[in-house]
Amino acid sequence: MKKAFIVANWKSNKTIPEVAEWFRTFNNLQLTINKQIIVCPSFTLLPFVKESIVKGQLSIIVGAQDISPFDEGAYTGEINEKQIKELAEYVIIGHSERRKNFSESDDLINKKIEQAINYGIIPIVCVSSLEQVKSLKIEDGKKILIAYEPLFAIGSGNADTPENADQMARSIKDVLGEIPVLYGGSVTSNNVSEFSKMLNINGVLIGKASLDAQEFYKIIQNA
Ligand code: PGA
Repeated sequence: MKKAFIVANWKSNKTIPEVAEWFRTFNNLQLTINKQIIVCPSFTLLPFVKESIVKGQLSIIVGAQDISPFDEGAYTGEINEKQIKELAEYVIIGHSERRKNFSESDDLINKKIEQAINYGIIPIVCVSSLEQVKSLKIEDGKKILIAYEPLFAIGSGNADTPENADQMARSIKDVLGEIPVLYGGSVTSNNVSEFSKMLNINGVLIGKASLDAQEFYKIIQNA
């Protein structure tokens, strides 16, 4: 059976009390499903999320939402690979919101991927086109996830069709090899099964719908 990854990207949302509430709800739902769940909160929330997972004995893995392209040193405001590795196993890189709002280039994204891989953090690289896929420099055999997220579908309530997403996932694998490809963009508990049943899609990346613990739980159940 193909492995299903369910990634929550909380983006720039939630305070510590709000995360506590999310876990209170989530813990009560008794998850018994064998899927790889990864929650990616803001940096400030990473220790608290990690602690909550341990306390609740949950099989959730923590991810960060970005990584510095530089090692430790004089880079004010950056969070480096060593600091991330203390708290997270995955990192989202190249999300379209960073490409757009922070002018992240393909070169910068490749540098961040390299930093993560060299330090044993698994990158979840977001792409919205095959052109972006072709610009990635990833050595064969490296552990990495790709999330295909078409721009029109992100936060719009208007997901891509499962058939398009599957075709795109196939094309991505044709370029990069048989690595896991996730679909992201307006995934909810209502449409998640349409995506997760497609042959080439290995999971989903969820923004808005993951902020609500009940809804995220339903997504996991339905995936
Ligand atoms: P969305 O965001 O689920 O809110 O559309 C997905 C993403 O941007 O990762």
